[in-house]
Formats: sequence, structure tokens, C-alpha cells
Amino acid sequence: MNTMEINKIVAGVICAVLLVVVVGKIGGALVHPDELEAPVYPFSEDLMAGASATTAAAPAAPAGPEPILAMLASADLAEGEKVFKKCASCHDVEKGGPNKTGPNLYGIVGAAFAHKSDFSYSDGMANHGSNWGFEELNEFLYKPRDYIDGTKMSFGGLKKASDRAAVIAWLNTKSDNPLPLPDPAEAAATEQGAAEEAAAPAEGEAAAQ
Ligand code: HEC
Repeated sequence: MNTMEINKIVAGVICAVLLVVVVGKIGGALVHPDELEAPVYPFSEDLMAGASATTAAAPAAPAGPEPILAMLASADLAEGEKVFKKCASCHDVEKGGPNKTGPNLYGIVGAAFAHKSDFSYSDGMANHGSNWGFEELNEFLYKPRDYIDGTKMSFGGLKKASDRAAVIAWLNTKSDNPLPLPDPAEAAATEQGAAEEAAAPAEGEAAAQ
């Protein structure tokens, strides 16, 4: 191959590249696609996650954690023990075990708030009163700081309902007196009733429009 031929090939390639660039510029100048301000189709995370269309059409879920009562009886205890690894840096859970950054949690399900007399709780926790039932734990573990004002527990929370159900069911086994797990059918009915009550005002508003 002589130099002349190589020059021709190089020139050909350069011309082709130039042509693509020039045509692209002209095209861009002629057509101004309007960017949409918002997606036409309302994507929700549920939809992205492959949930059914019925969930998307349902009225907005009330703020706060998804209920877990109906999930407890079938919760995966091995999974709960795994989830507890997130807590174990601060909490011991064995009977007679020490307090760490957080109080020992043996027997916590059903116990009084601030159940350890030898742990220095935040005022919010110490003055809360009442007992740690499944629902209280569900709310607290969803977002500790929202549930107890000024809590010392610096933990973001467990956003997945199945994680909360699993760890709460597992904690319940770490006890001299585990609480009876709620009957799933009854719990589902109660939770459904509560959800409908919470959604009722929203439906009323929609009807008034
Ligand atoms: C960074 C440390 C830390 C982590 C991680 C943590 N906790 Fe705590 N936890 C605390 C502290 C500190 C308190 C005391 C809070 C207060 O006094 O307000 C507490 C309090 C609690 C209480 C109330 C105890 C009582 O006696 O009333 C429960 C229940 C609890 N934690 C469960 C958990 C669970 C379950 C996890 C994991 C999902 C977890 N915590 C993760 C530090 C932690």
C-alpha cells in the first residue's frame, strides 16, 4: 500500500466523521424537543418494585410504619437474628448480659419502657410510661427519633416491615415470658379496619371534589 492510498483512506474517514457531526448539528438546530417537566406516567416506588396496579390505585398510605402484627406468627426467626446484628453493637440480648451503649434487651417484648433500672435513659424514654408491645416496638424501630423525643438511640430505623417483624418476633423468644403472637387472620382484620379508618377522611375529600 503506498502513501497515496493511505492518505485517501484517512481522508475518507475524516469526511465521514465530519458528515456525521454536521448532520447532527443541523438536525439539532431544526428540531427542538420539548423536555417534559414531569414524567407523564406517575412512577411510584411500589410500581418500580413490581407491585400490582391495585396498590398504586389505593389511597395514599397513612404516614408511619406498615403494620406488622399479621406478619409476626410467620416471621422468620433466623432472619430476625440476622437483622439483630444491626443492633448488637449497642445491645446485648442474653439473660443477665451487660448494658452496652444501649440497655440489655433480654425480655424487652412486653417489658416496661426503660425497663433496666441500671441504665441511664433519655428523659423521653424514662418518662414515657406503658409497655413495649409489638405495635410500640414496630413504631419505635421504624424511626426511633420520631417515636421517642430526644432518644439516645442513634439508629436510623428499620424501614422494611419484614425486617421489623422478624427482629421483634426473634426478640420475643429472648424472654422468660414470650408474649403470645397475634393470630394472623385477626390481626389482618384489625389492621385492615385501622387502615380504612385512616383512609376514610381522604376518600371523603375525594368525593367532595
Ligand atoms: C448506636 C447504638 C444503638 C443501636 C445500633 C441500636 N440501639 Fe436500641 N438503644 C440504644 C440506646 C442508647 C437506647 C436507650 C434510648 C434512650 O434512652 O432514649 C436504646 C433503646 C432501645 C430500646 C428500649 C429499651 C428499653 O429498656 O426501654 C429498644 C427496644 C431498642 N433499643 C431496640 C433496638 C433494636 C431492635 C435495634 C436494632 C434494630 C437497636 N435498638 C439498635 C442504642 C442503640
